[in-house]
Amino acid sequence: MTSFIGGLRDGNGMVARIAAIAAIGGLLFGYDTGVISGALLYIKSDLKAGTIAQQSIVAVLLLGAIVGAAGSGYLADRLGRKWTKFAAGLVYIVGALGAAFAQNVAELVSARFVLGLAVGTASFVAPMYISEVSPPKLRGGLVTFNQLAITVGILVSYLTNLGFKGVPGNWRWMLGIAAIPGVALAVGMLTVPNTPRWLVEHGREEEAKQVLQRLRHTRSEADVAAELAEIRQAAAAQSGSRRRSLTGRDLRPLLTVGLGLAIFQQIVGVNTVIYYAPTILASTGLSNGGAIAQTVFIGLSNVIFTVVAVMLLDRFGRRKFLLTGTVGMTCSLVLLGLYFSIGALQAHAPYLALVGLVSFIASFAVGLGPVFWLMISEIFPLKSRSVAMSACTVGNWGANFVVSFTFLSMVGAITRAGAFFLYAGISVGAMAFFAFRVPETRHRSLEEIQQDLLARVRAHGAGGLAANPAQSQRPQPPEPL
Ligand code: BGC
Repeated sequence: MTSFIGGLRDGNGMVARIAAIAAIGGLLFGYDTGVISGALLYIKSDLKAGTIAQQSIVAVLLLGAIVGAAGSGYLADRLGRKWTKFAAGLVYIVGALGAAFAQNVAELVSARFVLGLAVGTASFVAPMYISEVSPPKLRGGLVTFNQLAITVGILVSYLTNLGFKGVPGNWRWMLGIAAIPGVALAVGMLTVPNTPRWLVEHGREEEAKQVLQRLRHTRSEADVAAELAEIRQAAAAQSGSRRRSLTGRDLRPLLTVGLGLAIFQQIVGVNTVIYYAPTILASTGLSNGGAIAQTVFIGLSNVIFTVVAVMLLDRFGRRKFLLTGTVGMTCSLVLLGLYFSIGALQAHAPYLALVGLVSFIASFAVGLGPVFWLMISEIFPLKSRSVAMSACTVGNWGANFVVSFTFLSMVGAITRAGAFFLYAGISVGAMAFFAFRVPETRHRSLEEIQQDLLARVRAHGAGGLAANPAQSQRPQPPEPL
């Protein structure tokens, strides 16, 4: 625990401040995905929204996020990570105010689509930005600030829903106050530098050097020069055509890892818990009030276990957390499946539903939750990083969309127990994929990771990725992707 905090005290306070500003994007992501469940209760009577209208109000944010994530890979390349995030902050303010003042369903749906554009963009540009400014030893914890902000955003949205319960026009407040973090993000991004990696890639080396000197001010000039040289070398090694960047043969195994993590992160059913926890808990016999209170408890566990990930990911490595967390998720899903299929458990041990949900969310929070976003910010070569991260993020939001909108019909078709057993089976598949495909990236610079992974792909194909880096062959300088 002390090593992350010690690392921050050790002259890295400024990087941590910058990472915290970039992570405001995560707060917006979490708040807006969480707030709608509570707001919808009031919107439906106020705007006379039927079932299709309600589903559209919820779903359109995910569609906007898919479009935002798809378009902003290009922006992150051209404008840079900093200005893309600044733009996301502005779009966010427009979307939040548009939603708060919507006069009918069509206006609200349009505003939520605009919000989705910002959420989809911020969701991957935040980890990319933080990863590119962080020193290797603290990168896991700092990038996970973003996941922490997502979980805090979800928790705050649950609390806001509780807090505005009897207030007239409450849903407008619930949706509108999200403009405040939007302003904080846009203004905050004006105060942070461009990332040294993006600057080098755009031939702005002198600025890159100045930024590195600011960010690593406790290190010697020689250390800064060495870091710059390493970035320059990696950027120069990929000076191929941009169009080839997503289709290159060497990149394919890395894209498989990124997309595998992206899709598994959603199809283990995490958002059925985040979005439907009150419904699931109410079905165990709790009152609506009791179900909402216990949902806050689930949100709190999500935050607390993400703090554990922030503290320990750099010490123990990504794979250990990913694999242990996925074992925990599988056991919790089996427990939930058993609970909903055995009447005696429901009658005599109703608390088991909450135990299953909390242990599932805690296991996700220490593993797959943060590790997906962290890993996609680490494994891709600089040249392809924005498009590849954007592709994985599109996969993640796409899978989120499919799972969220099939859950209720799936429960109708195969029962709640069947749905949880199905997620448990998928989670076993995820474990195998992670064990055989996902590499360890702890403590190495982005450039070392990139060289090492390319060398392993060339020597052993995709199967070599998960090998212990100490046993893998020495990194070779990569050729153009
Ligand atoms: C996922 C979200 C999820 C959240 C829960 C994120 O990493 O991408 O879909 O709602 O974690 O904490």
